[in-house]
Amino acid sequence: MKQVSKIKELRSLIQDAKQDGKRIGFVPTMGYLHEGHLALVNEARKNTDVVVMSIFVNPLQFGEGEDFETYPRSEERDREMAEGKGVDILFLPDAEEMYPRPMRSAVNILQGTDVMCGASRPGHFNGVATVVLKLFNMVDPDAAFFGQKDAQQVAVIENMIKDFNMNIKIFPAPIVREKDGLAMSSRNINLSPAERKEAPEIYKILQQAAALIRNGKADTAMKEASEKLYALKAEVDYLELRTFPDLGKSDGTDVGKIILAAAVKYEKVRLIDNIIWEQ
Ligand code: PAJ
Repeated sequence: MKQVSKIKELRSLIQDAKQDGKRIGFVPTMGYLHEGHLALVNEARKNTDVVVMSIFVNPLQFGEGEDFETYPRSEERDREMAEGKGVDILFLPDAEEMYPRPMRSAVNILQGTDVMCGASRPGHFNGVATVVLKLFNMVDPDAAFFGQKDAQQVAVIENMIKDFNMNIKIFPAPIVREKDGLAMSSRNINLSPAERKEAPEIYKILQQAAALIRNGKADTAMKEASEKLYALKAEVDYLELRTFPDLGKSDGTDVGKIILAAAVKYEKVRLIDNIIWEQ
């Protein structure tokens, strides 16, 4: 595995690979890797020839009072895990390399950010889209790999790719979970033991509700799920039932894909989870 922190070095490695006719697969991350990230590397290895992973905790996508400072970081651990999984190029830029001067421009997401995480994290998806666009321009990948855990993020990136005619294929990958059902997240390490014990309830609540919705009982499902979420130690951010990927309102009877998504806030950590199904 080659490790680089400068854009110039990265471009030169990628240029060499492209000259050899290799297809570039890209896995953008914020590090503190877990099996969810590594599943994306597997997908990238299956579908492309050279796997590039970036690790950068992007300040632009964190709002005021959010966990930018406490976001877990461990370069050494990440490097070993990435190498073990077969990442070919690990790109670890620092903030100075990514943002050498204040940005004079940014991506503005026009649709789909007034709901779910977009509603509770104003500016978040503009920050995500801006850094992803920058990274895409640095890596120039043929394909990029994103997890459905951040379902709204996948929708935003796919829209950006269409809107700006970018020639990059997006591969969405299913959510990887802990044995007890909790969706893997770098942030889980910042849960207190009691919070960690309770957190798998989120997925159980979503599963029970999804089953009821599939049986035509969306109203009951949403009411019960909401009550159960509010009974947790966490503060409920949202529970929403929407069409996917356009994130329009759903009463559970829509034909096509539906997403049931929730976000809750524990003391130091905000957790998200979702179930997407087709009907
Ligand atoms: P990060 O949270 O590190 O996630 C990197 C990628 O891993 C995202 O595509 C995310 O959806 C995926 N992922 C995280 N947990 C997962 C899980 N349990 N199962 C499957 N996939 C999972 O998402 C970001 O970073 C940033 O917003 C980024 C795109 C890198 C831009 O800064």
